[in-house]
Amino acid sequence: MDPIQLFLPTFRIEETLAEIRECLEKGWTGLGFKTVEFEEAWKAYAGLPHAHFLSSASAGLHMAVLLLKEQGSWQNEDEIITTPLTFVSTNHAILYSNLKPVFADIDEYLCLDPASIEERITPRTKAVMFVGLGGNTGRLKDVANLCERRGLKLILDAAHMSGTRWLDGRHVGREADATIFSYQAVKNLPTADSGMICLRDTALDIEARKWSWMGISKDTYSRTTSEGTYKWHYDVEHIGFKENGNSIMAAMGLVALRYLEQDNAYRRQICAWYDMYLAGNELIKCIPMSPDCVSSRHLYQVEVDNRDEVMVALNQAMIYPGVHYRDNTLYRMYSEGYGTCPKSLDASEHIISLPLHMRLTYEQVVYISKTLKGVVSHLSR
Ligand SMILES: Cc1ncc(COP(=O)(O)O)c(C=O)c1O
Repeated sequence: MDPIQLFLPTFRIEETLAEIRECLEKGWTGLGFKTVEFEEAWKAYAGLPHAHFLSSASAGLHMAVLLLKEQGSWQNEDEIITTPLTFVSTNHAILYSNLKPVFADIDEYLCLDPASIEERITPRTKAVMFVGLGGNTGRLKDVANLCERRGLKLILDAAHMSGTRWLDGRHVGREADATIFSYQAVKNLPTADSGMICLRDTALDIEARKWSWMGISKDTYSRTTSEGTYKWHYDVEHIGFKENGNSIMAAMGLVALRYLEQDNAYRRQICAWYDMYLAGNELIKCIPMSPDCVSSRHLYQVEVDNRDEVMVALNQAMIYPGVHYRDNTLYRMYSEGYGTCPKSLDASEHIISLPLHMRLTYEQVVYISKTLKGVVSHLSR
């Protein structure tokens, strides 16, 4: 039997190669050309006013914090309230800009709990960083209202949320000042490594294009005329970074975007099968999706006792699940926050992400579910 992996990206190979071929034939693989096309396609798909294509979501989170700090004249050591249950990119982004991550606790959706956020607001709080874990919206609407009421900026780490919609059909993202998507290889919209930052404010979108391109006022593509001549003159207004996306990744993204709705529908089907086999088992707690959304279902998460033993037993049955995530306060560099978010710490010890990808079959979901039920029942004796 082949191992059943947590994630396995599916690429539409011929279509992707044809899109990449256009870049190679034109002789344009960098910033511009397909990156512009992909930004337009993403804006049309997600209904967001701005989209700037970057090398990763980590770069997008970096840009979001940096730009909002600049715009709001925040001081070093000002605070951003954030979740400990995330990939470290989320929290590293706060530190890159010399701001302080203040951890708040999570709710039953494994997302930030607005009541816990409220408790941790101080005069130095400038923003909230919300992570839509696994594509879940959790209590994002309440958090957006809270931010508005308390004059805080909202950054949405939507790395897992490509395709998550509210019940009225609108894509998530409009509620935040900055929304950042990941198109890394195992995400719902797979490339190899890339991401998108969608800013509410037009002025910040213009700034993002400079900051992610070395502070240069006009990128090389927009300095190239339709006749192919090249305007060499540009200004550099401030320092910047090399965090832009490129046309090869955009070509991959354009093809993946054509299949995103169809792929997410199959993800939801897989989750419905898991629900059918696992819901109601008293030893397995399925993490609920917020009733507010139709989720992208990047993850299917459960909580069990004896998690580490369960993982080993599943591995012996050729099933390789994951953990999203270890509470960041367990890492040395974030240990100052240890003990401040007991629900997150508890979840971190019990959660498992079950295999979820486009090549997973109904038979495999049945096999995984039955094996999991057998293992937890055996270990509970
Ligand atoms: C919640 C979360 N935020 C941010 C990132 C960073 O995304 P990228 O790999 O595109 O930088 C990830 C990637 O795994 C993630 O899971």
